[in-house]
Amino acid sequence: MNIAIIGGSGGIGQAFINNLAKRDEVHSIDATFNRNKPELQHPKVRWQAMDVTQAASVEAWSQTLREIDWLVNAVGVLHTQDKRPEKSVRQFDSDFFVQNMLINAAPTLLLARFTQDKFKHGRPAVFVTVSARVGSIEDNRLGGWYSYRASKAALNMCIKTLAIEWQRTLPNVVIAALHPGTTDTALSKPFQKNVPSHKLFSSDQSVGYMLKVLNGLTPAETGRFWAYNGEQLPW
Ligand SMILES: NC(=O)c1ccc[n+]([C@@H]2O[C@H](COP(=O)([O-])OP(=O)(O)OC[C@H]3O[C@@H](n4cnc5c(N)ncnc54)[C@H](OP(=O)(O)O)[C@@H]3O)[C@@H](O)[C@H]2O)c1
Repeated sequence: MNIAIIGGSGGIGQAFINNLAKRDEVHSIDATFNRNKPELQHPKVRWQAMDVTQAASVEAWSQTLREIDWLVNAVGVLHTQDKRPEKSVRQFDSDFFVQNMLINAAPTLLLARFTQDKFKHGRPAVFVTVSARVGSIEDNRLGGWYSYRASKAALNMCIKTLAIEWQRTLPNVVIAALHPGTTDTALSKPFQKNVPSHKLFSSDQSVGYMLKVLNGLTPAETGRFWAYNGEQLPW
């Protein structure tokens, strides 16, 4: 299997690489980072820099790939150096909203656009993005986090729409949105205070759960939103 891990420099992305590199059936892992090349080295892993918000960068990266069996997009943003997710609409800022859309939603479509030919091998294949339960419109009970929620809801719509298109053109591929559960990474660090310890997963734990879900998916189940425990979430 040839695997592509986008956002391999993040907490969840690195755990995907560590886990998959150990599998005998995995031949190569094309991993991407944005800012700093991670120290993680493995004979199966090839690191490349890519800004997944830029079409030219995604296109250039895709041209270095051969066939893909699994693509996992683990890129995301919740807060930046000077911006936190909104507690109230009073804090809403259009630039932060657009930044969330650019990093959390648009890349899945850029990746699909530039990698689709790599899935034409006909073998069962997987194309997934790590989304977030807070992107579920139906499941929204607490409010807040306008930009992040909206960007993950947009991502979910992109995934559902892509699944419909690829059911016709690439029926060997199962497409999914995944919720990892609250996971101890830089992204969640400032928001872990009220999370009970049994509900805060290590990256290895959450990726172990998500891989169990992914291993069981078939192309007939394309276009769905899955939680780490195998529960199908409402859009
Ligand atoms: N942690 C949680 O509790 C949790 C819960 C629900 C959903 N999620 C989702 O899980 C995914 C992974 O998050 P994480 O917790 O692993 O966060 P993380 O450790 O902060 O990793 C974020 C990743 O996104 C990459 N990235 C950001 N902007 C980018 C850009 N313009 N181009 C390319 N890469 C970019 C980062 O690359 P660099 O570091 O190289 O910039 C990094 O690899 C995200 O989609 C997040 O929304 C996480």
